[in-house]
Formats: sequence, structure tokens, C-alpha cells
Amino acid sequence: MSKTSVVQIQNLLKQFPVGGDFFTALKDINLELEKAEFTGLVGPSGSGKTTLLNIIGGLDSPTEGNVDVLGMNLGSASHNERAALRRTQMGFIFQSYNLLPVYSVFENVELPLILNKVEPQERKQLVTQAVEWVGISDKIDSRPAMLSGGECQRTAIARAIVHQPALILADEPTANLDAENSHHIMKIMVRLNKELSTSFIFATHDEKIMDYLRRIIHLDDGQIANDEQIDQPKFDE
Ligand SMILES: Nc1ncnc2c1ncn2[C@@H]1O[C@H](COP(=O)(O)OP(=O)(O)OP(=O)(O)O)[C@@H](O)[C@H]1O
Ligand SMILES: [Mg+2]
Repeated sequence: MSKTSVVQIQNLLKQFPVGGDFFTALKDINLELEKAEFTGLVGPSGSGKTTLLNIIGGLDSPTEGNVDVLGMNLGSASHNERAALRRTQMGFIFQSYNLLPVYSVFENVELPLILNKVEPQERKQLVTQAVEWVGISDKIDSRPAMLSGGECQRTAIARAIVHQPALILADEPTANLDAENSHHIMKIMVRLNKELSTSFIFATHDEKIMDYLRRIIHLDDGQIANDEQIDQPKFDE
């Protein structure tokens, strides 16, 4: 594993038990992602994007193969070691935001810091900063029900970045947003990528996201059909 390697996958096979049989969701996956890459997993519905993202995030385990993420071999790590890696070095963004409805924006964004046992004073500073990054400082005391979809996703991004993770995994982050909000969200992530060297992996079929990516990994039927470097993304801030 090279020094700047964020993800390294060798000979990955993922099968799900279905009835008395197995369904092969991913096979022959070999992949290396370097620090500060801005990469997308794209492909038709059912091609294995979410499955691969979940395996990289340590949320699901491969049937066969080797997966190293941020210097940790996920297969030989314990459940607690994987959880600690996620908590301290990874951020997750989902299509459905996954905000806690009874908490304010501040409290939702603060959660990862509480889990990481950050002191209250530093928490306040980091939350304020993350919320400012995504441009919703004026909504910091609002609850999710009072926010638009775009503002909810910005809150979710703030929560994913507040502990300054090395790697952010985003599964269809713009699926519930209109074009304008999708572009806003992507610009925030490009800026994070450039200024903090945060690595990003998206799973998406949204053309708008693809226009920002610098590497596109095409999945087809659980296999890598094409791995494309984009030297000049259409939108490059
Ligand atoms: N827990 C599971 N049990 C059985 N099959 C599963 C399971 N999870 C995923 N699959 C199957 O694996 C395949 C890949 O699913 P996955 O969710 O990774 O696709 P995707 O590329 O993310 O699709 P979409 O674009 O619709 O989100 C699909 O055929 C799906 O039905
Ligand atoms: Mg999916």
C-alpha cells in the first residue's frame, strides 16, 4: 500500500445469500484510490455502487478479497477498530440526509464530536466552522423540519466534515435536490477537497455530479467496466 493510498482493494468478491443460493453483487474488483481524489462510482441501478461504498466504509464485509482503508486492513481489524476508523477518519453522506428530527442543526452537526469525546468548547468552535462552510449559519438553531431539502443536505455535509475526516463517502447525495442545490452542494465538496485535501468517493447516476468528478469508475453488473481519469472536469472551481 503506497503512503498516500486511501483505499486499496484486491480481488474483491461480494455475494449475498438469496434463498438457498448466492447473488454475486461485486466480483474481480481491484482498485486503488490516492489521497485527495475526487472519485465517483457510476453505473446502472443494481450495478453494485452502494455495496462497494458500504464495504469501503466498513459497514459491510467482502465475501473474498482484501480491503485496506486509510492504512487499516478491514478484514483483520476488529469490529471496534473499524468503528473507531469510521468515527475518527470518515464522513458519510446519504441521499436521505439521516438527520435527527428532535435536534437542531447545531446538535446534529455536533454529534460526531460528542462520539469522539471532543470538549464542549472545541465542539462549539468546530460546529460553528462546519456550518459556516456549508453556508447555513443563519439556520444553526433550526430543526430539520424547518429546513429545505438543500439545507438538510448541507447540514448532513456539515455533520460529515465537522471532525475533519480524511475520507468522505457520499451515496447519491444530490438525488433529492434540484439542479441549483445540487451544484451548490458539489461546489462545497470541491472546495473541501481542494482546501483540506479530503478524499471523496461518490456513488451516483447524477450527470451533475459527474461533471465535477476527476475520476469516474464505471460499474456494470458488479464489475469495473471502465476507470476513467478526467483531466478537465466541466465544473472545476
Ligand atoms: N442485502 C442484500 N441481499 C441481497 N441482495 C442484495 C443486498 N444488497 C444489495 N443486493 C443486490 O446487489 C446488487 C447491487 O446493489 P447495490 O445497492 O449495490 O446497487 P446500486 O448500484 O447502488 O444501485 P442503485 O443505483 O439503485 O442505488 C443489486 O442487484 C441488489 O439487489
Ligand atoms: Mg445505490
